[in-house]
Amino acid sequence: MHTEVIVVAAGSGTRMGSRIKKQYLPLAGVPVLVRTLQVLASCPSVDRMVLVVSADDREYVDKHVKDHQISKVGAIVEGGRERQDSVRRGLGALLERTALVAVHDAARPLVTVAEVEAVLRAAEREGAATLGVAVKDTIKRVVNEQVTETLDRRELFAVHTPQAFTRPLLERAHRAAQQQGGISTDDASLVEWVGHPVRMVEGLYSNIKITTPDDLLIAEALWKRRGE
Ligand code: CTP
Ligand code: MG
Repeated sequence: MHTEVIVVAAGSGTRMGSRIKKQYLPLAGVPVLVRTLQVLASCPSVDRMVLVVSADDREYVDKHVKDHQISKVGAIVEGGRERQDSVRRGLGALLERTALVAVHDAARPLVTVAEVEAVLRAAEREGAATLGVAVKDTIKRVVNEQVTETLDRRELFAVHTPQAFTRPLLERAHRAAQQQGGISTDDASLVEWVGHPVRMVEGLYSNIKITTPDDLLIAEALWKRRGE
């Protein structure tokens, strides 16, 4: 199955609060986005990548792709206001023959080849799959600073990317979300909304999303542990 990964990197990184957007901050000396792309490019099942970036960053990203000799980059397109809009723009740049699509956050450079391959295999088999990990903390619902509910931790997973889907299913889910005005921070939710089951593939706790300055410190330590 011809497989493409849409790498979303068009966010503004408000929670990181750095002058340089978090996807371009250095991780062990190399921009986070470049680290992410290097992992994805080395996955045997990934045929092509579509990068989604802000209009202002296109040239900068194009230069990095060339300087770091990253293979499999087929297109660099402009993102949208919400993550979901950026993914939709990415869908528009897939090749005709692409049958399987993964969506990955540029801000998750610590993903491994084995994780990517596992989620792709699951999606090929079942139509939709996401990486995730069992939550370690007890999770409570809080409304106006009052705890209203304690959720059963055994049923809870924190969701990671990549998430992978057969192409027609992901396109249908995005069309439906756009028509109904639904917004979500991940693609699996959109697929759930159209009534298709999503397989949870247990990944590694190390596949963190770089969101706040603390995450960058943790990512540096995790990267060092890899010995690269
Ligand atoms: N993203 C995107 N387009 C958007 C918003 C987010 O491509 N309009 C991407 C980000 O670049 C990131 C991924 O989606 O790689 C996950 O989003 P998040 O971690 O929320 O990043 P930001 O939106 O940039 O950060 P923040 O929410 O703190 O502003
Ligand atoms: Mg965001």
